[in-house]
Amino acid sequence: MTLPFPNDPAMREALSERLRFYRELGIGEFYRRPVDEAAWTQAEPEPQLEEARVAAPPEPVRREIPAAAAPPVRNAAIFSSQIEESLIAPRKPFPAPPPQAAALPPEQHFAALKLIREEIGDCTRCDLSKGRNKIVFGDGHPEAKLFFVGEGPGADEDAQGLPFVGRGGQLLNNMINAMGLKREDVYIANVVKCRPPANRTPEPDEAHTCSPFLFRQIDVVRPQVIVALGQTAVTYLTGEKKPLSAWRGTVHPLRGTKLIVTYHPAFLLRDPNQKKHAWADLQIAMRELGLTAPARK
Ligand code: URA
Repeated sequence: MTLPFPNDPAMREALSERLRFYRELGIGEFYRRPVDEAAWTQAEPEPQLEEARVAAPPEPVRREIPAAAAPPVRNAAIFSSQIEESLIAPRKPFPAPPPQAAALPPEQHFAALKLIREEIGDCTRCDLSKGRNKIVFGDGHPEAKLFFVGEGPGADEDAQGLPFVGRGGQLLNNMINAMGLKREDVYIANVVKCRPPANRTPEPDEAHTCSPFLFRQIDVVRPQVIVALGQTAVTYLTGEKKPLSAWRGTVHPLRGTKLIVTYHPAFLLRDPNQKKHAWADLQIAMRELGLTAPARK
């Protein structure tokens, strides 16, 4: 059975955000199991107690929990068929990212980024263009040593055309300042440049359509370190779908730079207890960049 995805935009947004929260925790895989409605609705038969008693010595009675009986499958019913399909369908292989472009002299970075923006134009390459107000290309220093990658614009970013300017952006600014840097020192861009409806996670075809521009921005800026903010960022940067916990805590090579993975600021706003772990990740980035944290006032 498939229940309709709620029509109320606030409910849709809340649901999407909750889903994102679970994915960030690394428990986003559970709903990809095949849905077996019967396993949910049919009570398990009682063990045959009498038979068990007469058998000597009795085999321990094992009550196997069927794989489809994991609670998240039940959650799958709340998504629309389209969303459900995207969650449950077997994953298609990721297209190869564009080959790394040759390094440019620093004085050409600004113009090269401008060219990429011009090439994007008034983009209609995917359906995200239908709901956006402004394309959020990216923002920051064209020669930044540190490059943050988020998922996609939210409402504030869509209105202003700049990445991370909402509440999550305020937290990201604080994280950047805690590293002893200013926002203008770093570069920030997203996997997709248009706001997904109700802030849902970008669909794979949307991300694959847009991410080549992100790779080209990375190749122009040539940062020493890329920090992927959350699951979507690391998945589409690497083409590998693993839980965030499998990525965090180590440095991964990526397009001639070093990739470090941490939580998305939106996740940290929901669960501030995780900030200390994000700070540990940022300290790895600082070590790679040769930075020391400023003394606390
Ligand atoms: N979340 C993102 O992933 N990117 C933004 O630009 C804003 C919020």
